Amino acid sequence: MYQKYIKESEQSRLSMMIKKYVFGNPYETGATVLPVEPAGGIPERFRFAAETGTFSYTLKEKDLVFGLGETVRGINKRGWIYVSNNADDPEHNENRISLYASQNFLLVDDGTECFGVFVDNPGSVTFDIGYTDPDVLSIHPEYNDTSFYVIEGETPAGIVGTFRELIGKSYVPPVWAFGYGQSRWGYKTAEDIREVAAGYKALGIPLDMIYMDIDYMQDFKDFTVNPERFPEFADFVREMKAEGIRLIPIIDAGVKMETGYDVYEEGKAKGYFCKKENGEDLVAAVWPGKVHFPDFLNREASDWFGDQYQVLTDAGIEGFWNDMNEPAIFYTEDHLKEVFAQIKEFEQKELDIWGFFEFKDVVGSIANHPEDYRRFYHKFHGQKVRHDKVHNLYGFYMTKSAAESFARNCPEKKILLFSRASYTGMHRYGGVWTGDNCSRWSHLLMNIQMMPGLNMNGFLYSGADIGGFGGNTTEDLMLRWVAFGIFTPLFRNHSALGTREQELYRFERKEDFKHLIELRYALIPYIYREFLKAAETNGMYMMPLWFAYREDERCREVEDQLLVGDALMIAPVYEQNKTGRYVYLPESMRMLRFRAYNDYDSEVLPAGDHYVKAALNEVLVFLRPGCELPLATPARHVEQIDEKQLTRIIFAKP
Ligand code: NOJ
Repeated sequence: MYQKYIKESEQSRLSMMIKKYVFGNPYETGATVLPVEPAGGIPERFRFAAETGTFSYTLKEKDLVFGLGETVRGINKRGWIYVSNNADDPEHNENRISLYASQNFLLVDDGTECFGVFVDNPGSVTFDIGYTDPDVLSIHPEYNDTSFYVIEGETPAGIVGTFRELIGKSYVPPVWAFGYGQSRWGYKTAEDIREVAAGYKALGIPLDMIYMDIDYMQDFKDFTVNPERFPEFADFVREMKAEGIRLIPIIDAGVKMETGYDVYEEGKAKGYFCKKENGEDLVAAVWPGKVHFPDFLNREASDWFGDQYQVLTDAGIEGFWNDMNEPAIFYTEDHLKEVFAQIKEFEQKELDIWGFFEFKDVVGSIANHPEDYRRFYHKFHGQKVRHDKVHNLYGFYMTKSAAESFARNCPEKKILLFSRASYTGMHRYGGVWTGDNCSRWSHLLMNIQMMPGLNMNGFLYSGADIGGFGGNTTEDLMLRWVAFGIFTPLFRNHSALGTREQELYRFERKEDFKHLIELRYALIPYIYREFLKAAETNGMYMMPLWFAYREDERCREVEDQLLVGDALMIAPVYEQNKTGRYVYLPESMRMLRFRAYNDYDSEVLPAGDHYVKAALNEVLVFLRPGCELPLATPARHVEQIDEKQLTRIIFAKP
């Protein structure tokens, strides 16, 4: 009875705080887990222009806008336009409006009054946050079949908590996934991987995972392993595990069209691939050459694809990363035909300069062509749905398909799982990495600034390619990036084929890298505890300062320091040629300047502005008053850390 009373009062509390407004016929996306009765009318605080299908809110002068997860620019999203339209785009510059993810939660706060908005619409949604008109936030779904939520609360953190109750608890990976991982597109053989493991072992640098990119597969076919380059794969997985290292293979969305390839044959025979209007399977091309896309939105197809992972889990694999699942399309057979036809026409013409540019555009339109996303269909909840209307669900449902299959097929195991493309709701099934960044200082800052938005949207297990994926990294950038990555739950060094090799043992300052990675391992008891707390309480593991120090006007503008868990603030160095940085302290804190887990300076600093030194091998950590930081003795692998033997650094309340 008492339980029931609690439940009812909880329900009514939530229904007071979450208002849902329905427009058109929204899809059941699976983003939310709480049933909310729709209110009638227009969302509170918003205007709605029915003729354009645009919701708008007049921003107050002091309104800060947080959220949208994996997007470019600052923590405060005001001043730019963002389009939720999952895109395979490796050029993450400030002018980009779409990246790989659609995480449609926003929080508006002027310091006295705040509210949250969640736009549950899996098609393209434009968030113009003071770009067209500096004082207007406008939200425009391309197709207005939308569940529009307005979330009330007293504080930003409270609103985030309520939103997260709406969308359900975040995915928690196995504890070893908090270790350090080495990845590179280009480890072609078991021998290459052994070399990486040996490189780390020789220097005693901790390592828990080596990632396997597409090179391990036979002709880039999902769920195959090249038998020449990886003979006796299960034995190799065991051998690595005995070394304390888990192998984490990639799985791509597209299934290679090849007669005799069982996944292709079975998917085709059962009708599990996405179809065109005329009922034929769409033919696209990605790494394997011509592929079909599994229809993850179709329940049966999703179960079938999920079951395929078993080939690898049976071989001892305990983690996966799902890639190319926006889905990325290098070309479709249909569009390529159109392009060839147009090229023939151009060939007949005498091109002036404008004609030449037109020609160039036609050729440049081949990959990820917007029209291609309107060429195929899903069977979603039994209905035929054109892909573009539910586009942003594709990566989410691929990841859900895998996670559900693990629960079904190997419930005793905890599997590491993360994805490139995502939509709100996927956070219950896996984490994300933020895709193909570059070895640029600005991308280190972007990594710092993306983390709070990802956390708000429930993507706690997240991180970027440390050191940068594209382009050639440098030792100083790598040192600074690792120093920040120490605090991100997903801590993986990954780089692209053809770029400078960036395994840490390849650099000159090997000892410094060793000390940095050891510091991460020393911090794992803290990181894991705070992560679990955030997952359990719908909190944020990484938070903007503003959320905790809302009475301090200065914190509005702090865009390059973060709170990590309840006890720490970090201030990473993210610029080249710097031997220190300015830090703003909203209250007195104990600064720890780590050179190694057991070698650090400690100084109590008063509230205010400080210039603090931080050499290339140093990490700045600030302990908040009344808090303690537990430190373990690092081990080479997470599972060897002795959680009982902790030293504690304390900063008692002054
Ligand atoms: C694109 C992914 O974003 C990247 O991480 C991966 O290395 C390549 N695909 C090759 O698989």
